[in-house]
Amino acid sequence: MRYEDGQAVAVLEGDLNPTPWTEAMFLEELRLGSFCRVLTDEVGTVVGYLVARLLWDEWHLLLMGVAVGYQRRGWGHRLMREWMDHARKNVGRSLLLEVRRSNRSAIKLYSDFGFVTVGVRKKYYHGPHGSEDAWVMARPISSDDQERLF
Ligand SMILES: CC(C)(COP(=O)(O)OP(=O)(O)OC[C@H]1O[C@@H](n2cnc3c(N)ncnc32)[C@H](O)[C@@H]1OP(=O)(O)O)[C@@H](O)C(=O)NCCC(=O)NCCS
Repeated sequence: MRYEDGQAVAVLEGDLNPTPWTEAMFLEELRLGSFCRVLTDEVGTVVGYLVARLLWDEWHLLLMGVAVGYQRRGWGHRLMREWMDHARKNVGRSLLLEVRRSNRSAIKLYSDFGFVTVGVRKKYYHGPHGSEDAWVMARPISSDDQERLF
């Protein structure tokens, strides 16, 4: 992600997330040196993004999304592979994320990559339709991940 991608990423985020991040929030993650990945189509339109932050030796997935018209084509898997590869090479010993308990497609995606549910955060998400629990999902990064995942 480059600073000039911030606006397009925020517009896409607005389409996908009921409580979307703003452009300023994305730019702040860039400034902090977080892992900020953008995928573009053949004409340069932003169609996917993933933001993750390292806290000690644990990588936290903050958010990801793929444009509706591009979903179920493998872009989400690609974003996850790139993040996990980066985490493995950059002092990561474990990976953690929160996901809405109703978000079946995201939970399936994370399960495909070996994440398991390790906890629940009650009423973690707030939006126009009330609050919703988050599942906390995690997995360790092991030395044989290179052969198994990448
Ligand atoms: C969750 C999300 C990122 C997944 O992205 P995606 O690009 O659809 O993910 P993929 O295409 O890699 O995988 C999704 C499914 O498509 C399948 N798929 C992958 N390539 C495919 C292809 N060429 N043809 C058909 N299906 C395909 C995958 O096998 C997977 O199927 P499964 O759910 O049965 O296992 C996307 O649904 C999204 O942006 N949702 C809204 C925002 C959100 O919920 N973000 C996560 C919480 S922060």
